[in-house]
Amino acid sequence: MKPSAKGLQSIALMGRFRYIACIRVGMKVLCIADHVDPFIYSASVKSRFSDVSFILSAGDLALEYYDFIVSTLNKPLYFVFGNHHILERESYLRRQDPFTQIARKQVGPTYTGGTFLEGRVLSERGLILAGLGGSIWYNGGENQYTNFSMFFSMIPLFPKLVWNRIFRGRYLDILLTHSPPYGINDLPDPCHTGFKVFLWFMRVFKPKYLIHGHVHLYDRNAVREVQYRRTRIVNAFDHIVIELENQK
Ligand SMILES: [Fe+2]
Repeated sequence: MKPSAKGLQSIALMGRFRYIACIRVGMKVLCIADHVDPFIYSASVKSRFSDVSFILSAGDLALEYYDFIVSTLNKPLYFVFGNHHILERESYLRRQDPFTQIARKQVGPTYTGGTFLEGRVLSERGLILAGLGGSIWYNGGENQYTNFSMFFSMIPLFPKLVWNRIFRGRYLDILLTHSPPYGINDLPDPCHTGFKVFLWFMRVFKPKYLIHGHVHLYDRNAVREVQYRRTRIVNAFDHIVIELENQK
């Protein structure tokens, strides 16, 4: 039986209400990427970051670093892989490449205490998170994608994003990536060029945040945050704490 137009409208309104109820203004999220930060890899990390709700890693970090953070802060951590520190990545994939599996049979999964977010849509504290790891293709290495192949990596996310739009009032809140979008926080060299397909994703699915790494920031005055339409794009190099705003 087809639902009536009035019924669909009610469902949409319920989703909108849930959205407003779930986003907590002032929730802090610790974002990390690319570099082991002495401010975090320290005995005082618990006193510095005890008020964060959870941690997001945009990749290129050793899994043992996540283990330290989760063990010390005792908060949930979500991560994607970048183009470095990817030896254990395959053990996290649902469909594994049988050839590299044979070559790497000695490499088992490393305990991180974190949750692998690549190709997944998950909820944490009422926020909808999705993850897309890897960088632009530049030398044929692992976890490198063309814009076309990155689009294919996005496809498994679509059904759950649409489900969220219908029943929760929005597609997602945070997209966690390793690479930045094309032309925003990226660099012109072949390795650090961003993905054009991320621009398309932001236009269509309107995440409130896109958290990325990959581009190292050595200048304290370097731009970390850029607004693109309805999405705040943040470079998480070293670490940054974002405070989520209600952007209904
Ligand atoms: Fe990278």
